[in-house]
Amino acid sequence: MSFPNLFEPYPLNAELTLNNRILMAPLTRCMAGPGLVPTDAMAAYYARRAAAGLIISEATIIRQDGQGYPNTPGIFTAEQIQGWQKVTQAVHGKGGKIFLQLWHTGRVAHSHFTGQAVVAPSAIAASGSVPRMRHLQYEVPRALSREEIAQLVEDYAQAAENAREAGFDGIEIHAANGYLLDQFLHHHTNRREDEFGGSPENMSRLLLQVVDAISHRIGAARTALRLSPGAYVNDIQGDERDRQVFDYLLQQLNQRELAYLHLGIFDDSMTFAYLDGQASRYLRRHYQGTLVGVGSYSAERANQAIAAKEFDLIAIGRPFIANPDYVEKVRDGRPLTPYNDAQLASLD
Ligand SMILES: Cc1cc2nc3c(=O)[nH]c(=O)nc-3n(C[C@H](O)[C@H](O)[C@H](O)COP(=O)(O)O)c2cc1C
Repeated sequence: MSFPNLFEPYPLNAELTLNNRILMAPLTRCMAGPGLVPTDAMAAYYARRAAAGLIISEATIIRQDGQGYPNTPGIFTAEQIQGWQKVTQAVHGKGGKIFLQLWHTGRVAHSHFTGQAVVAPSAIAASGSVPRMRHLQYEVPRALSREEIAQLVEDYAQAAENAREAGFDGIEIHAANGYLLDQFLHHHTNRREDEFGGSPENMSRLLLQVVDAISHRIGAARTALRLSPGAYVNDIQGDERDRQVFDYLLQQLNQRELAYLHLGIFDDSMTFAYLDGQASRYLRRHYQGTLVGVGSYSAERANQAIAAKEFDLIAIGRPFIANPDYVEKVRDGRPLTPYNDAQLASLD
């Protein structure tokens, strides 16, 4: 067998043990049906990848005003829950495990999709326009009120409960890549002067409330989190003061026994001066629980990184789009089909 470290089983906790260390990274495919309902084709797509130790679903919006891209699935209507049931049954039928990634895009949502105002920590627009729909310029968001923040926490908790009803093994809170929860963690996008801004404790408050509300509803063992301490996408400008926010946040997360913490990045060779280097190394130094690495890793390099304890599990994104049988090919030492963007056009 090639790359033995990748094929060791891994106990996440007393409730969940993964068959191997390879996770399918969350990958937005924009192929949900009318009403943002998951389709039979999506069930078949995920089932083909069930050999992953854990599949993390494509980002899934917790409510209508969180949508920033066309045809991204939701988890807030009965039809969406039923659609996801077909997906989880198909994956479980093949012996796989699957978490749902919970998403609100915040200031990179668009009224074109939502028919509603765009909301964010502060009224600061992202520059640019919606990917693949460049005629849609980002709008100036409205800052969420404190009452709306309380409702948002409840909506995340309800979405997590809906995910369990749909048969998911757990959920991953998407607090990475410049979307709503990440927008609260960076000074560039959070200029609030109430208890949700201005200090590391305040800037971490909403995310910790979401983590706690979801853990309370479905259990910390089935609650995971994705973070991008290094700002790199969706027009969040890194600020050296963000370092204190993440130092504080990780200290708090160490007390919470989540299923895992997952880095959000496209290329983990990137370095950030205010994190003293790579984001994965920074998380490893500050976080004591299970860490998932990601970002342009080959199987060979992931195998080495796990051996060197840089992280415990690897998430693989683009190669899983190109190779539904990624796990089997890597295990058997067979060549991989290279990824290219044209493959996004179909759900093979
Ligand atoms: C087409 C595409 C869609 C993605 N969608 C998501 C998503 O829904 N949620 C998320 O957290 N990351 C998303 N990502 C980022 C991936 O999870 C992953 O971090 C990134 O692709 C780097 O891993 P890789 O080099 O193995 O592809 C997406 C990436 C790509 C290429």
